[in-house]
Amino acid sequence: MASSSSNIDLSGATYCVVTGASQGIGRALAAEVAKLLGPKSVLLLLARNKQELSTTADLCKTSNVEVLYESVDLSKATNAEMTDILNKALKGRKVTDFATSIIFHNVGSLGNLAIETSRMENVEELRKYYDLNVFNVISLNTQFLKIFEDVEDRVIIVNITSLCAIKPMSGMAYYCSGKAAREMYFRVLAEEKKHIKVLNYSPGPVETAMIDFVLDEAVNDNLKDVFTSFKNQGTLLKPEITAKKCMKVLQAGKFSPGEHVDYFDDE
Ligand SMILES: NC(=O)c1ccc[n+]([C@@H]2O[C@H](COP(=O)([O-])OP(=O)(O)OC[C@H]3O[C@@H](n4cnc5c(N)ncnc54)[C@H](OP(=O)(O)O)[C@@H]3O)[C@@H](O)[C@H]2O)c1
Repeated sequence: MASSSSNIDLSGATYCVVTGASQGIGRALAAEVAKLLGPKSVLLLLARNKQELSTTADLCKTSNVEVLYESVDLSKATNAEMTDILNKALKGRKVTDFATSIIFHNVGSLGNLAIETSRMENVEELRKYYDLNVFNVISLNTQFLKIFEDVEDRVIIVNITSLCAIKPMSGMAYYCSGKAAREMYFRVLAEEKKHIKVLNYSPGPVETAMIDFVLDEAVNDNLKDVFTSFKNQGTLLKPEITAKKCMKVLQAGKFSPGEHVDYFDDE
């Protein structure tokens, strides 16, 4: 990790959002961050599946944190809907009541793995992919920044990125291009707003529904081989392990603005 800055302390009253919190890495991030949040904190969980969000909420309960969840399709939500959801979770409290406000942009999908990169032409499908994985991540982040603009120096942003954002992977052109665009947006933001802490955390290969999706859908042989060997050799990380590492990186605060930090960087 590049430059060193001060530790990040979440032990004050914190307003925290986790997207894609109904399963997988998002669920684990929510459960881990909940342990760190101080009294009078709010943890807002977003995804579509309400039942699974409620299971995550149960895992996050601590005496310090009020856990809220909202079913929302983040590929379709308007700016006004996102703002409403974020404001509702304030429950009349002022943004200055929170020592820290933090958002984990974890939501993500893989896109069409059944099309060869040299045959991609369904722009409508690509647009839908980018709506969820890039455009509305940017929009949600903007709504968050607008709400907390008077206390911008208390804002922390964590983008859950991937090795695929910086290294091409055969058969994953939707995913790699989306992750690259999303990560670069956060890097530019970090460049402009040095007082906001921005981390691009890459969680490593993690045992979630995403892995099964690759094995079921991929047409690219190299891609299938890579993921089959991850699975067979038992090298996939548990969501809790990478979520713990993300918190460790975050709390240490030793990342430069918008830095891409990978699970394996100091393992
Ligand atoms: N697994 C890995 O090996 C790996 C590696 C590197 C990076 N990542 C990144 O880590 C993040 C989480 O991945 P994961 O493996 O935990 O995936 P996952 O198990 O498939 O979880 C994806 C999450 O996103 C939510 N989501 C999907 N579409 C949504 C929509 N339209 N609106 C709202 N929420 C939606 C899902 O909830 P609902 O279905 O309930 O909406 C779910 O909570 C992603 O950004 C992924 O790119 C994963």
